[in-house]
Amino acid sequence: MTTPKNINSPHLIDIKSMSKSNIEYLFETTDTLKNTPIKESLKWHQGRSAMALFFENSTRTLTSFQLACQRLGVDCTALNIAHSSTQKGESYKDTIETLNAMQTDLFIVRHPKNHIQQQMVDWNLVNCYDKTTSIINAGDGNNQHPTQGLLDLYTIKQHIKDFSQIKVAIIGDVKHSRVANSLLDGLRIMGTSNIELYGPDSFIPEPAQSLKAKSMQAALTDCDVVIMLRIQKERLDADIKIDFTDWHQHYGLNNDNLKFAKREAIVMHPGPMNRGVEISSEVADGAQSTILEQVKNGVLIRQALIHRLLS
Ligand code: NCD
Repeated sequence: MTTPKNINSPHLIDIKSMSKSNIEYLFETTDTLKNTPIKESLKWHQGRSAMALFFENSTRTLTSFQLACQRLGVDCTALNIAHSSTQKGESYKDTIETLNAMQTDLFIVRHPKNHIQQQMVDWNLVNCYDKTTSIINAGDGNNQHPTQGLLDLYTIKQHIKDFSQIKVAIIGDVKHSRVANSLLDGLRIMGTSNIELYGPDSFIPEPAQSLKAKSMQAALTDCDVVIMLRIQKERLDADIKIDFTDWHQHYGLNNDNLKFAKREAIVMHPGPMNRGVEISSEVADGAQSTILEQVKNGVLIRQALIHRLLS
């Protein structure tokens, strides 16, 4: 078992609080895990436990965390929120304190409200052994999704030599995307400054307007990495109506406009995809797509992170 260095926080709430060397070290641990048989890593954290509390829908993130825990020998309980006592009026804090009293080592939390995981950190949760209960942010509102950002950076690193030499385009609903926020922070930490955003004006956040490209073509031209984002319908005002055919025409990626990017450019998407809206099937399933590679890396990155936090 490798013993991680650089443990400066028992939690992961956002990428901003990580340094470049923290991220690089996490990538090294991820590389080690890639070459470690599961029957070996299974022994690393036997007897430890985690609780996955997902107050929002999830397919890949929840499963990925559960598998990451399992492969380290960590017993992971996923709370079915629809059947939990929050539906009976119990406060969030009471629910968390109740679960914490059961001696869990780690909470993995997704919540529609921004900053809820930071609030949990501020409660200074300790378990019955007087040890800090670790908290991982698995997505809070439109704020942060640090493990998605990290797995995206890890995937980029597998295809490029130097983060400071690449051009990255992030296209679609950037404003409501916590993935974009974490990725922008992560890219800056790793040294990427050539970043262009593209989407309708009202879908680019105010502080990032200066990164907005003039057109889809301008955003894609000479790009090394193209990241496509879903319209976050669940976070839009009810009166906003979107014509999906029109969206694809102006902000969708297909084989015609992908030609503006470098020939070896990679195409990424955090999922879930809406084929024919932000991305065409030919691109999603094409040779440049790393979408399933991202999913595969997601389990490994989360394993590395959990190993680091629990060690
Ligand atoms: C993202 C999320 O939940 O923010 N999905 C994911 O975790 N892979 C992106 C999205 O929902 O569009």
